[in-house]
Amino acid sequence: MPLLDEQALIDRVLAHIDGKTTDLADSVWHEPVEHYFSPERLDAELACVFRRTATPFCPAAALSEPGAYLAREAGGAPIVAVRGNDGVVRGFRNACRHRGMQVAEGAGCRKVLTCRYHAWTYNLDGTLRGVPDEYGFPGLDKDAHGLVPVGCIERYGLIFVTQDGEAEPDPALTQMEGLISPDHRLIAHDVIEMEANWKLICEGFLEGYHIRSTHAETFYPRQYDNLNVIEAFGRGNRVTFPYQSIERLRDAPRETWRAPGVLTSVWHLFPNVVISTFPKTHKITIVEPLSPGRSRMETFILTNAKDSAEDQKRVDISRAFVAAGAAEDRMVVSAVQKGLTSGANAVLTFGLFEGALTRLHREIAAAIG
Ligand code: FES
Ligand SMILES: [Fe+2]
Repeated sequence: MPLLDEQALIDRVLAHIDGKTTDLADSVWHEPVEHYFSPERLDAELACVFRRTATPFCPAAALSEPGAYLAREAGGAPIVAVRGNDGVVRGFRNACRHRGMQVAEGAGCRKVLTCRYHAWTYNLDGTLRGVPDEYGFPGLDKDAHGLVPVGCIERYGLIFVTQDGEAEPDPALTQMEGLISPDHRLIAHDVIEMEANWKLICEGFLEGYHIRSTHAETFYPRQYDNLNVIEAFGRGNRVTFPYQSIERLRDAPRETWRAPGVLTSVWHLFPNVVISTFPKTHKITIVEPLSPGRSRMETFILTNAKDSAEDQKRVDISRAFVAAGAAEDRMVVSAVQKGLTSGANAVLTFGLFEGALTRLHREIAAAIG
């Protein structure tokens, strides 16, 4: 099913408000609690899900010029993406071909990538450029010692990386064409580590059943509790959260209805990426497992706001609003991780309101087999 356009999405939300309803899944799902702390389960997820899926590595706006690079762990392995002098972004295993040191850390812009251990240097296309005191390596085939490439493709304003298999992203993702425009620029990149399984963190973004209880003083005064439109989007979902400001559209001509300001849609790109949309900003959250009970959240904020004071004010208000709610989600999720290891539950139960979570677990189970 194609995603609803803005007007149809607003129609569906207004119908839910009137009927005091929400989108419902077909069935309840039970997920074994062990899947949130078992090392074997995480190994299978990394091998069968993370490394075999073309997953967003960073926004293209993070690599806006030749030589711009970003290095981080993805799917449990160090990866670096770098924009070449030809404008093409390439991805590599971030390990020197001498003795394995990472050739780049964090983000920056360089003419070449130089390993800090013994200073072997690599061109932006990954080829080995220089070896200090090369006479110490008789017979070294420099052509065979470039950085090892991974699948890497720029699409829809994102850089997708695949470590094992087909580099092309899921064709269903063409539906996000235009979501991130060439006008969007990166204004923040934050990294937070959390004591929680990566799936718990993703789950928090994908249901609105917790709005009143968890976000009583942040989101709830402006949104609705347990009122979502949930649409299949590739192997993930698009989950839409309305604001009470949507009521003002009832008196406006339908052709003037626009989503920004009245809806936040959370686009879940399977398995571990969500893009949340706000007026003037998009927030991209990438959740990377570090261990079964520990994860790293990489957050990128993009904006297409002008430099005007009015636009900047809207960006600041929106970021503060989102940050307050996100802190509440992090508190809950870390507490849930403790609850899971307490032995109280053998399974977690996802109800009919939590269909996007059921979908996540179904897809993981299907990939692992
Ligand atoms: S490990 Fe990189 S130069 Fe030695
Ligand atoms: Fe939340």
